[in-house]
Amino acid sequence: MAARRLGVIMNGVTGRMGKNQHLVRSIMAIREEGGVPLSDGSFVQPDPLLVGRNPEKVESLAREVGLEDWTTDLGSALANTAYPVYFDAQVTPLRADAVRAALEAGKHVYCEKPLAQDLDTALDLARMAAKLEVKSGVVQDKLFLPGLVKLRALIDSGFLGRILSVKGDFGYWVFEGHDQEPQRPSWNYRREDGGGIILDMFPHWHYVLSGLFGRIDSLVCTGATHIEERVDENGRGYAATADDAAYATFRLADGVIAQMNSSWCTRVDRDDLLTLQVDGTDGSAVAGLRGCKIQTAKETPRATWNPDLPNSLDFHSGWTEVPDSLNYENGFKVQWTSFISHVVEDAPFPWDLLQAARGMQLVDLALKSWRDGCWVRVEELEL
Ligand SMILES: NC(=O)c1ccc[n+]([C@@H]2O[C@H](COP(=O)([O-])OP(=O)(O)OC[C@H]3O[C@@H](n4cnc5c(N)ncnc54)[C@H](O)[C@@H]3O)[C@@H](O)[C@H]2O)c1
Repeated sequence: MAARRLGVIMNGVTGRMGKNQHLVRSIMAIREEGGVPLSDGSFVQPDPLLVGRNPEKVESLAREVGLEDWTTDLGSALANTAYPVYFDAQVTPLRADAVRAALEAGKHVYCEKPLAQDLDTALDLARMAAKLEVKSGVVQDKLFLPGLVKLRALIDSGFLGRILSVKGDFGYWVFEGHDQEPQRPSWNYRREDGGGIILDMFPHWHYVLSGLFGRIDSLVCTGATHIEERVDENGRGYAATADDAAYATFRLADGVIAQMNSSWCTRVDRDDLLTLQVDGTDGSAVAGLRGCKIQTAKETPRATWNPDLPNSLDFHSGWTEVPDSLNYENGFKVQWTSFISHVVEDAPFPWDLLQAARGMQLVDLALKSWRDGCWVRVEELEL
């Protein structure tokens, strides 16, 4: 049976995320496999139309991946009915207006996080999508990391007993640009350009915490701009105006306390760039990006505090690695596959623009907590 075609406008695909995760490892990979399988045994093949500001860059990307269709004119792409889906991975400040234009053109919309730079705009877009009855989605890639998939299975199996606390550590040293090239774009460090680690990471912490451990009830957060001067892609120094670290504590509705450290100014002494330690009455788990290790109540070493003697326990050896049990695919591709099935045959897809707005709500509240120096409640957000 020949695969049917689904036209997808892809905007912002010359960037890091747009190119690597969304175009190459998701859409092109799906195309190579013959498309997304549907429930009737047939396939749907995504057909991308690349959109970008710089014609040389977009054309050269199209050529590199073996595609023919590209444009610098978003308006004409949105007017083209052969492409019913709009995807956006542009820099954050450009997303809300482009998503609004796509919704007005009647497109189904899938996009990177954060959906906007403030809650009101995000909620407005979520309401618009619901009113227009188009399909919508936002990237929630961390849920599909093998380490977090293993952690979820442990939680669901009851292995941890009653969960007490979560300790999340995210980050690494992002070079300032003086001696070594920075590994992230400079706009990430300028608030006026949509930068800031709270805006970048708290949408993730929203779906990770609420998805794995339940509703977030309240939070307290302090941010910081630890490094005040950096060097950009063109070798020019600039003032870092956005937060490059955030230290937050969350109280969840079921009593779990979660702490999340997010920092681009920390040197890594842990197994991965993101680790989540979950302590429960019956056992503990430490999840990384791919791995997850566990310790049962029985295996827990009997630690006693005595700084006068050298430590006699090897704490690291008391953990067991959870074996791989699935063929873990790229999380962005998994979510694209579900979104395409959602568009074509209405398969369930829980990560819509309302979910994106909930992520923005957490950003807004973390910034408020930092500004006011107090705990803030997270009210349940509905359309
Ligand atoms: N899901 C995730 O884990 C994850 C990770 C990193 C970034 N992101 C999100 O993806 C989006 C893109 O981030 P990125 O790291 O790929 O950024 P990037 O700077 O590498 O790419 C940005 C894209 O937007 C385009 N663009 C349009 N106007 C621009 C401008 N004025 N300045 C610079 N670029 C401009 C660029 O050409 C490029 O295609 C952001 O919204 C970011 O929050 C998500």
